[in-house]
Amino acid sequence: MRIDVITLFPELVSALQDYGVVGRALRAKQVELGLINPRNFSQDANFRVDDRPYGGGPGMVMQYAPLSRALDEVVSNANVKPRVVYLSPQGQKLDQDAVKRFCQLEHIVLFCGRYEGVDERFIEAHVDEEWSIGDYVISGGELAAMVLIDAMVRTLPGVLGDEQSAQQDSFEQGLLDCPHYTRPEDIAGVNVPEELMSGDHQKIATWRLKHMLGRTYTRRPDMMDKLSLSEQEQQLLDEYLAEVKDKNER
Ligand SMILES: C[S@@+](CC[C@H](N)C(=O)[O-])C[C@H]1O[C@@H](n2cnc3c(N)ncnc32)[C@H](O)[C@@H]1O
Repeated sequence: MRIDVITLFPELVSALQDYGVVGRALRAKQVELGLINPRNFSQDANFRVDDRPYGGGPGMVMQYAPLSRALDEVVSNANVKPRVVYLSPQGQKLDQDAVKRFCQLEHIVLFCGRYEGVDERFIEAHVDEEWSIGDYVISGGELAAMVLIDAMVRTLPGVLGDEQSAQQDSFEQGLLDCPHYTRPEDIAGVNVPEELMSGDHQKIATWRLKHMLGRTYTRRPDMMDKLSLSEQEQQLLDEYLAEVKDKNER
């Protein structure tokens, strides 16, 4: 897979290569990361890529031409026609299903806006999809692109040390993840749940599933609407809710 990022701040996005499992995967070229600065495609003497908005008002707008030339450069070097994604607060809200779909693509171009935004004609002519990282506005698309790249790369086979850790993550099975514990066993009288200490794999798996169901039910009821629980799962959820009720009444 290849990901090209069109950004005025390539150094910012490049930091992805320096840290953690995603950095290791990028350095090992499990995913090829290309960084393209539209400033290099500006024909202005001062390398400007923005101008004032028609109609007046505050802020500047990214110009069509440098962006279009930057994209042409990427496309002309590509083996397949890349999917062009604009990170935008006006896009669809990113979720794990979208991340997985992006992972199927051979080549993606992520385009990061700055200032008040981008000349609409660039979006109309060249952008295939717009995606948002949430209902708030950040100063530029770089952090959003980095969120998407991180989410994609960590799901690729072999990137995480333990294959199972991605599968157990929140959203992978339509559920939130269960709570986790590590040493010491006792912190100020709060003990690790005994099921996790039992060494019994079946018991541990059942405890985890129960808590995944319980957490999802209490924290994200909207996710429950998309699930159809088996008899055993419903029973585990009922047990979880009874245990919580019992604990709260004590
Ligand atoms: C200051 S914002 C422009 C916001 C624009 N005026 C609006 O209100 O829709 C500059 C750039 O940051 C990026 N951006 C801001 N918020 C985002 C979000 N929630 N998700 C993805 N990208 C975002 C976009 O690339 C955008 O072009």
